[in-house]
Amino acid sequence: MGSLFRLYWIPFFFSKDLVANDRPKRIMLLGEDLVAFRDSEQRVGLMANACAHRGAPMMFGRNEDCGLRCVYHGWKFDVTGAATDMPAEPANSRLKDKVKITAYPCRERNGIVWTYMGPQTGELPPLPNLEWNLVPAENVHVSMRIQECNWLQALEGEIDSAHAPILHSRIDSKGAINKWLATRDLRPTFECIRQDFGMSIAAKRQLDEHTNYWRVNQFMLPFYSLVPPQSKFPELSGHAWVPMDDNHTICLMFSYHPAEPLPAKMREVFEHGHNGRESAHASQDSFVKRDATVPYADYWTKYTRDNGFMFDYQSQVESWFSGLPGLWVQDGACQSGTSPIFDRTKEHLSSSDTGIAMTRRTLLEAAGAYRDRGAKPNGVENPDAFMVRAVSLTLPKTASWIEFGRPHMAATLGAGFGYQL
Ligand code: FES
Ligand SMILES: [Fe+2]
Repeated sequence: MGSLFRLYWIPFFFSKDLVANDRPKRIMLLGEDLVAFRDSEQRVGLMANACAHRGAPMMFGRNEDCGLRCVYHGWKFDVTGAATDMPAEPANSRLKDKVKITAYPCRERNGIVWTYMGPQTGELPPLPNLEWNLVPAENVHVSMRIQECNWLQALEGEIDSAHAPILHSRIDSKGAINKWLATRDLRPTFECIRQDFGMSIAAKRQLDEHTNYWRVNQFMLPFYSLVPPQSKFPELSGHAWVPMDDNHTICLMFSYHPAEPLPAKMREVFEHGHNGRESAHASQDSFVKRDATVPYADYWTKYTRDNGFMFDYQSQVESWFSGLPGLWVQDGACQSGTSPIFDRTKEHLSSSDTGIAMTRRTLLEAAGAYRDRGAKPNGVENPDAFMVRAVSLTLPKTASWIEFGRPHMAATLGAGFGYQL
């Protein structure tokens, strides 16, 4: 699976967090211990934390003119990984022409830093055309937080439409969630179709005897999920679930409107929560900064498995079904489960897990096809394969969600939803 992931550009950090000539940030990606920095020419570097000389930590590195210098013997490496200085070597030494530190190419687009950790033979593939990373800045909010579980366990939580009107619901009559159409039928039936990009997972709920409400979530290889808008809150959202390692996931969340700026109120709730509770995004107040020598030091939150995600029994009795303090915390707590990787032999998959079962199969087949035949999924070389939207459709019972949904599932940059929400 790691080899499959390495065929793709991976979004892993915010541009704003890398400041020219500033100290490097420690990064962990696909189990690799790395550091990221911005050099004096504004170029972003991502390289091994272990120095190519004798392995001293590059997180102590001095970010000097056009490179990062190891503090042990002063070897200096540029963003391509080339050694550019070895102050303890004889002046005529050619060693520096031969030594490289592992380094991965990086690109920046609209505030997100991407890296390519794949086979470096020939040309690099294009960056994927993901709509959330192409719309104007005022149309989108992106946040990042670390979750202490396996990336797939987290991803499965977001393609699972059945949990939403249960886990996120209230037992009182207040609040927006009680207006979600999905709350009107808690027993959706699922239809999944394979797509070039991965999988469309459609949940059908009956609104009345003539009308169905379809929510179609998308799974895009290798680790993206897309969630459709709710009728009253017309934003698209989703995640890149990027593995730090097997037990930790970078949850890069995006919410965007395809054609309009996000309302200021919505952005405020994303950034600061609502009445002391978290929204779908980790708020600025939810982070507990760790020492800068820890990977992703600024993106660990105060809600952890160790403190029970601040579960509040009184709240469960009085107002919220789960007793967990906010939307993403409810998801994070359930996805993280009792251990970072749940023993799958102990699961009992049900009819509402159809999308999950098929997504697992899709991933395994893609990994197998690459391992056995070198076959790459469509999106690796075709950036437009990612121009996809999730949709929520209210349709007459006789109408086909596939037929009606197809044009709306194709993202056209700058175009609105094109159907009645
Ligand atoms: S270990 Fe880095 S320069 Fe020697
Ligand atoms: Fe959820």
